[in-house]
Order: sequence, then structure tokens, then C-alpha cells
Amino acid sequence: MQIQFNDLTPELFLEKYWQKQPLIIKNAFKDFTDPIDANELAGLAMEEFIESRIVSSHNDRWDVKHGPFEDFSEFGDANWTLLVQAVNNWFAGVNQLIEPFTFIPNWRIDDVMVSFSTPGGGVGPHLDQYDVFIIQGEGKRRWRVGNPDASLQQLLPHEDLKQVSEFEAVIDEITEPGDLLYIPPNHPHDGVAIDHSVNYSVGFQAPNPQELISGLADYLIDNQLLEDRFDDSQRKTTSAPNILADDDVTLLQQVMHSAINDKHILQDFLGKQMTQVHHTLNLLVPTEELTWPVIESIFSEGETLQPVLGLKCLLINENDHQAMYANGEAFALDEDTLALAQKLTSKHPLTSDDLESSSDCLKNTQLLTSLINKGLWTFE
Ligand code: SIN
Ligand code: CO
Repeated sequence: MQIQFNDLTPELFLEKYWQKQPLIIKNAFKDFTDPIDANELAGLAMEEFIESRIVSSHNDRWDVKHGPFEDFSEFGDANWTLLVQAVNNWFAGVNQLIEPFTFIPNWRIDDVMVSFSTPGGGVGPHLDQYDVFIIQGEGKRRWRVGNPDASLQQLLPHEDLKQVSEFEAVIDEITEPGDLLYIPPNHPHDGVAIDHSVNYSVGFQAPNPQELISGLADYLIDNQLLEDRFDDSQRKTTSAPNILADDDVTLLQQVMHSAINDKHILQDFLGKQMTQVHHTLNLLVPTEELTWPVIESIFSEGETLQPVLGLKCLLINENDHQAMYANGEAFALDEDTLALAQKLTSKHPLTSDDLESSSDCLKNTQLLTSLINKGLWTFE
């Protein structure tokens, strides 16, 4: 699946629109067919380990109910939306919707949320902190998007529903199957279904300094790193002991910088942090540990090895640091395992042909055996 960008290219899109202004591309995906139907989505919303909610509005009264749901009949025929998070972790066709956006690196992408709306359904005008591409599947929806506006009022029509006051729209369009809407962070938007409508939201993640610094602190503690204490062996006497002097602040700042300036620490921390998932994965851990001869025989039967749906994995390939990260874990690499890790992290299915050179090397077979036994890569 490819985006029909018309006169744009991915480069121009990043330059002109990404994180700057919203965009609608009509017919971005020709002959779009929904990779999931309303019944399948409702089935997911019945599961305890899947995050889902129903937002409804009747006579201007907003309500939010959280899944798992047993029955949808109480919601009636109109004015509600079912939203299910990380559907790409469960449906391969939904996971494939990420592919057209891989001109942006994988670590930025979070998940694909799917919504099913009845006529009039929507979550009301609101802001999101993250970029999102919304693909229109089945049905039609009226989408309005505005520019950031500090005068918008924050509203809380229900304790679980943040909205904003009415905004001036710079995009006001009816989306049809295959249309694509891009909304940058903090741009007010509102989608109201015209008929039964399915929307796919490819959402991004953008860590803030709070998350990065607290994550780094946890990482240092877990790995017992940089435990050396503050050193002021060159101290001179002070006549103002009540002052926190600028020189001391600089020394303390250097202590903090020592963690951030250590590239190896930072790469390892970020590799782990950025491959952590925010929603349950369908990890298929073998009931009994598989040994390499067993794995090899499965390959020789023609089976292909695939990453579990929604798996986050990355490669760091610098001269002085080569490692693969998957689901928050590091796997050390070297010259011998790098080619295999390239294939694995590009997420292409692996067949016995791909393994021909790899399987001669013990380190490669150990890497694969470990990934398979953790349930991160599985046979189809
Ligand atoms: C949706 O209703 O499909 C998306 C909701 C949103 O705008 O975040
Ligand atoms: Co939104």
C-alpha cells in the first residue's frame, strides 16, 4: 500500500506539513479495503487485555464507558463511537497500515487505533499531543481541523473526556474510503460520522524531557551505572555558606551531563526505551523451550518466521556500538550477527533461504533461538 501523494512527495510532506500544518489527501489509498470489520472490532473490545472505550453523546450529554464490553445494544443506532487501541497488535492487515508511513522512523510510530462510529458519532472537538494520520475506511465522516489557538477553552464534559471549545476550521471535508488526514499535535479537530464509519489512526509517540530523564534515571539504577558521587576535591573556602553558588551548580550540572554525554549509555537506554510497547502484545512463548535443531526442522518444512504483530524493534549500527533492541530488551551484535539483525529488524518474514548463510554461525542460531523462545518472533 502506498500513499498517492499527488503533487507532494514524502520529502515535501515532511518539509511543509509534518508537525506544522494539517493536510487532507483525498483518495490517498486507491481501492482501499478495510482490513477489519465492525464485528471483529467489537470482538476485540470484549477482551479484557485490550483497551477500548465508547464515547456517546445524547442531547448534548457526553458519556464515556470503558471496555471490556459484553453487549453493544444499550448504545442504540446513532451518536456513539467505539475506539480500540493498538488493533495492529492483533490484526496483520491493520498492522500493514503502518507501512506507508515508514518514511518516518519506526521508533516514532506508536500504534494503530481503530474507531467504529454510528451516524453522528465522534469524540467531540479536542486536541491531541501527538501527530496522527487518520485513514478513512468504510463510510463517511465530516472532519474539521483548526490551527493551534491559545484562546480555545478546555472543556471537561465528562471526567474521562477532554474537549475544547468551538474552533475555526482550516480543513472542513467529508472523508470517504481511502482518504487520508494528517493532524499535527495540538491542532483542534472533530470528526463526526455521517454514516457507519471506520477510521484508522496511525499514532506517533514523542517523548518529553520528563519521560526521558525519569526513564534514564530508572535505567541507571537498574544497571547500577554512574554511581560515583559528586567530587569537589578542588574546593576553596567560602565566606557565604548559605549560598548555592553558580560554580557548584555548574559542577552538579556536569554530574548530570555525565549520564547524557555518555553516548553508549544513551544509545542503550534509548534502544530499550523506544522499543517498549504501551499495549499488550500477543506474545507466543513456546510451551517448551525450542532447541536449534527443532527450529531448523520447522524452517525446513517451509515455515516462515515473523515478528509478533506490533513488536517494536530497532538496530543501532555505529562503529563502536552494534546492538539490536526488541520489546525493551538488548541483544548484543557483532560482525557475524549484524546481517541477520538487519533482516530481523526490517521485519520481513524469514524463510530457510534467508538463513542459509546465518545458520552456519553459532551466534546467529543463538540469537534466533533466544528471540523465538521469548515469543518475539514466531512461525506462521
Ligand atoms: C476517531 O474518532 O477515529 C479518532 C478520534 C480522534 O480524533 O482522536
Ligand atoms: Co484526536
